[in-house]
Amino acid sequence: MSKICVLGLGYIGLPTASILATHGHQVVGVDVNQALIRRLRNGEVHIQEPGLNTLVQAGLNSGKLKVAEQPEAADAFIIAVPTPISPDKRADLGYVESAARAILPYLQAGNTVILESTVPPGTTAGMFASLLAESGLDPWTELKVAHSPERVLPGRILEELVSNDRVTGGLTPAGAQSARDLYASFVQGEIFMSDATTAEMVKLMENTYRDVNIALANEFALIAESIGVNVWEAIATANRHPRVNVLRPGPGVGGHCIAVDPWFMVQCAPGPSQLIASARRLNDRMPEHVVEIVRTALAKVKGNKVAVLGLSYKGDVDDMRESPAVTVVRWLLASGCEVLAYDPLISPEVAADPHHGGLKVAVGTVDEAVLDADCVLLLTDHSPFKQLDPSAVGNMMRHRILVDARNGLPHAKWEEAGFTVQVLGRGVQPGPQSDTAVTNGFHKSTEAVPA
Ligand SMILES: NC(=O)c1ccc[n+]([C@@H]2O[C@H](COP(=O)([O-])OP(=O)(O)OC[C@H]3O[C@@H](n4cnc5c(N)ncnc54)[C@H](O)[C@@H]3O)[C@@H](O)[C@H]2O)c1
Repeated sequence: MSKICVLGLGYIGLPTASILATHGHQVVGVDVNQALIRRLRNGEVHIQEPGLNTLVQAGLNSGKLKVAEQPEAADAFIIAVPTPISPDKRADLGYVESAARAILPYLQAGNTVILESTVPPGTTAGMFASLLAESGLDPWTELKVAHSPERVLPGRILEELVSNDRVTGGLTPAGAQSARDLYASFVQGEIFMSDATTAEMVKLMENTYRDVNIALANEFALIAESIGVNVWEAIATANRHPRVNVLRPGPGVGGHCIAVDPWFMVQCAPGPSQLIASARRLNDRMPEHVVEIVRTALAKVKGNKVAVLGLSYKGDVDDMRESPAVTVVRWLLASGCEVLAYDPLISPEVAADPHHGGLKVAVGTVDEAVLDADCVLLLTDHSPFKQLDPSAVGNMMRHRILVDARNGLPHAKWEEAGFTVQVLGRGVQPGPQSDTAVTNGFHKSTEAVPA
């Protein structure tokens, strides 16, 4: 049992700090966001994650977890700060750099330093080790340095922190071993040791694998629309093959990981990363395709008011980072549509916060969003949306159009209530119904996503 300083108290750092504190370690959780530290000191947890509130309170009440704005001397340091992407699709390592600099005055020989943030291959052995060397200690011989990426799923973070297998990639074998020993105090999955660059690549491969497979599903959806096939039925049937598992198409890919990490791979080896870059671009174009479907549907009724359901990047989480829903809303607004958006997990204040979505169109109830709307657009498949009463929704609207970009609603019920339903990837066979066919292909615009 040891003293551990965790830098960055977000989705990853706060659960990690609290779980360590409830497994006997003395933990100092550090964040540069003073408001966040004040809230945590008052026992307020800023992240909605099952069980996290109880765990943080347990850590704080036992005295094993304390929160601070500055690091302290410790046996081990864990860095879990953001690694966003810059506009030119390169990793912004500024937060990692400032966190590494912040621990320099407190480092002592024998300390363990673990970088958990997702980074391009070569970062731990390169930029990170060079920074740590500014402490006067040799990162290879006097510190135990490792990269140990996190692979938890938002919504199941606490469960997966404990049960997932993980990798500790050391700058040296001693670094990998020391990180392994630390995680073994709470991880029940297997912990594999490797070198730092391999561990960095492992993390990127996992998310790239998912991104490329979602791009394939999206491409299938576009093909299905163009040849009049229902991609959802086709995927369900193809997935009956014992070795096939096509993922779900949708309005794009979001979140802090899958929409970002493949670019780190492209950054470190642009030549061989053609498939990865192409998949990333295809997923990034999906929001524009959804806008095209909505605009085509609106044109038929000469309407322009859209009620958006869902702003987070996926169902049942409150995270708006890189959310394709935010991009769709921006495109709709830029194309002259009136938009009101409702998300049961995101308050209008949070949606308007520039650090989140920066969208001023969110409202606090479904009723406010759908009033006088011409079209309901499902962008995030939150569970409560399945329970909506289509008749009640329709009674408040000007026109009864539903565009479902997630295949997340019971369409028969909506059709019974008089809605014209269009589903991403559900093509219509040519013939008498062809006037209801969805638009094929991408909108030709090359403009950047409006800010
Ligand atoms: N969220 C996920 O599901 C997930 C999953 C796997 C990996 N990751 C990776 O983990 C890392 C952290 O992600 P997150 O989702 O927890 O981010 P986050 O934005 O939720 O939290 C990061 C926190 O770090 C703080 N911070 C910034 N600079 C700091 C500094 N110098 N010192 C101390 N605190 C600082 C911020 O104020 C913020 O509270 C990223 O690299 C991300 O890619 C995230």
